[in-house]
Amino acid sequence: MTHLSLLLPLVLPLVGVQAQGNDAPPPPTGLWGAYRPNLYFGLRPKLPQSLLTGLMWCGLEDYQSISKTRHEASDSDGLASYTWTHFVPGEGGVQTLLDPVNNLNLTTSYVVLPGEGGEAWAARISGQPIDADKRSRNALLWYTGVDGYGQITLEDDDSPLSWTGKTPDLGPFTINIRTNKGSIPEADHPGFPAQPPESWSSASSSFSSHADVSYAAIPVPVGSIWQAKEAILQQLLKSAQETLASYGQGGPFPDPATVLHLPDDVYTSASLWAVQLNFDGPFEFDISFTPGKESTAIAAPALTAALDIVKAKYEAVFTDVFPTDELHATFSKEITANLLGGVGYFHGTSLVDRSFRYDWDEEEAAPSSGEGPELTEPRALLTATPSRSFFPRGFYWDEGFHLLPIARLFPSLAAEILESWVGLIDEDGWVGREQILGEEARSRVPAEFQVQVPNYGNPPTLVMAVQALLQAPSTGDLSLEDLGMDGQVPMGMDAAPSREHDLSPEERTTILRRLYPALKRHYDWFRRTQRGLLRPYGRRPRSRTEAYRWRGRSPTHVLTSGMDDYPRPHPPSQGELHLDLLSWMAFFSRTMAELAEHLGGAYEDDAESYRMVLRGCLDNLHDLHWSEEDEAFCDASVDEEDEHVLVCHKGYLTLFPFMLELLGEGDEAKIEATIDLIRDERELWTPFGIASLSKSHSLFGQGENYWRGPIWVQMNFMVLKALRGYSQGEGELAQKAAKVYGELRTNVVKNVFEEYTRTGYVWEQYDALTGEGKRSHPFTGWTSMVTLILSEKY
Ligand SMILES: *[C@@H]1O[C@H](CO)[C@@H](O)[C@H](O)[C@H]1NC(C)=O
Repeated sequence: MTHLSLLLPLVLPLVGVQAQGNDAPPPPTGLWGAYRPNLYFGLRPKLPQSLLTGLMWCGLEDYQSISKTRHEASDSDGLASYTWTHFVPGEGGVQTLLDPVNNLNLTTSYVVLPGEGGEAWAARISGQPIDADKRSRNALLWYTGVDGYGQITLEDDDSPLSWTGKTPDLGPFTINIRTNKGSIPEADHPGFPAQPPESWSSASSSFSSHADVSYAAIPVPVGSIWQAKEAILQQLLKSAQETLASYGQGGPFPDPATVLHLPDDVYTSASLWAVQLNFDGPFEFDISFTPGKESTAIAAPALTAALDIVKAKYEAVFTDVFPTDELHATFSKEITANLLGGVGYFHGTSLVDRSFRYDWDEEEAAPSSGEGPELTEPRALLTATPSRSFFPRGFYWDEGFHLLPIARLFPSLAAEILESWVGLIDEDGWVGREQILGEEARSRVPAEFQVQVPNYGNPPTLVMAVQALLQAPSTGDLSLEDLGMDGQVPMGMDAAPSREHDLSPEERTTILRRLYPALKRHYDWFRRTQRGLLRPYGRRPRSRTEAYRWRGRSPTHVLTSGMDDYPRPHPPSQGELHLDLLSWMAFFSRTMAELAEHLGGAYEDDAESYRMVLRGCLDNLHDLHWSEEDEAFCDASVDEEDEHVLVCHKGYLTLFPFMLELLGEGDEAKIEATIDLIRDERELWTPFGIASLSKSHSLFGQGENYWRGPIWVQMNFMVLKALRGYSQGEGELAQKAAKVYGELRTNVVKNVFEEYTRTGYVWEQYDALTGEGKRSHPFTGWTSMVTLILSEKY
């Protein structure tokens, strides 16, 4: 690949090489995108209270189908699958959705085009029956809403398919909808024998010969476009009820396809515009957004050509970065594209409780500030999401893992997301583990989980992303020439979709230097607030400081550890020491040392102190957490006499020093014991991957069974990475590690792939006894790391 991005001279000034040597953030690129991953399809700019767009659809076969209108990605809609198949950040993507209830095979795609007046975009929505012998009649609804100041007006009273608008941040713009193909439904449903309403004529639509078009323009309060579905369906229902009123109480009623329409009403000061297109059978329509007052729509062939470029680019970059065998190629491309398509822009307030403490968290009667949960200032976050349907928001612990594949594929996006998260680290060094920003995000979270507490942490996985940016190789940017497509810049376009995705070593260093102070604050916050107690319990390990305890545990859960219901010492005590947190702190210290050394100069002194802390953490892993009796690393607590005791629950927890590669020379026996535990079929080994809790444990599979047996892919990734690390070199131990590595890799890949083929989804976790996918789906957060496992990029 060549290093410079293609581009026509016209666009060069816009995306040209950024100024070097200054630490100011680069200008925003990729303003528009599918940054509403909680929806099946919705485009928005990365701007607060700006323009929000979205797609909804419902069947036209019966009147009840309105109540099953699809909008937010939801397990209860019964889609057989939905996934982005191609996705290039800031440039575009293609998504396919299978909706068997409505016999609809839907494709949503879009491209973003750079231009002198700002970014333009065009989206294409097309559908066809899944079963061509059965009816497939559907209403597709596209909406555009101004969420803050601004307006949208009809361009021409005779056409609801073209509007102009204006917002303070985007300036003037034009939106056009064009139907490319489709058929207008006939009034022929045998179950609904009445004559169609007079107002309806199947023979023609004055707006389109391909679809029966209706519309509504509705005023909604500022900040509530996210509730567009309710507002639009209200209009649809009202209009249908008015029509049906003339048919009397008991019917017979006419074909729903002739009645289910928006009312064609335009209210004054409308901020939400919806257009409904009723189709029978295959269809295709395009929506285009162009900056400027009198801009023309992006032509259909140009959009087709631009989409081809986006697809070719994703294929080329993916194949180059994550080569895999043919059997798994489509699978790994899709799950990774859906991870990228799961990246969202969120903005709004969140709830923080500065006064809350559990009894056992409080050692020096910390003064409480604040009184119960309070709303913070609005913040913005660009983040990948664990699951578009179930967890469509930012999760700290997941994010570090998300960024590992992203950092290899599109380093600049990984850096942008990392920077966005690091920007949330407050003056104290704290960042909330779950980012529920704004009302839309809050509407998806039960009240008891909405509040974040400033003395609670989460595994510091963001430093994994720091490590990835330090280590992942530059790939170079693709040009159209590289793709063999340089003659194909679409007519009527300024340029092909294009952005620079790679980061040079210098750019990486500049970014990491900018992030360093906040990362250091974050590190210091962990060391200050999550400290474990040594002296009060007479503990005398080699390091007198390095011992840690998660705050915020309940008697049954340690949500802050990320492994919610994993068994821990009982009852909760101030004398507890948590193995996983000490391991994370060793990892954090090591990565900060590497970062400081990389930055060099004045940072070298810091590197020295990180190394000292790392040494202390490593010593204390052995001094405080190794059980000779169990041949395993364990949590610690204190007994009734306040004496140090080890509490061993074999499972993922046991593996942390191994997984984070904290064991080295001299630790061979412990490494071997860990590998034996992993490979033991009575303990953690299953044909589907490593189980979270030992099968021999009395709590295996018990209770809510979240982290008490089920298999998690990101943990298996860490085990594989470590096994591969320990397999380098000669000797029996290396050979053993290599053998187990090969077996485990095969098992994990096989099971996730087979479940994908069987169910249409990747899952949050997999049953330890049957291998079946469990809980949320699609879960293309860390489960999509199978792509890294397939291509052996650890
Ligand atoms: C859905 O449509 C896409 C694009 O036309 C096609 O490639 C795919 O095979 C279809 N899938 C099914 C199950 O009909």
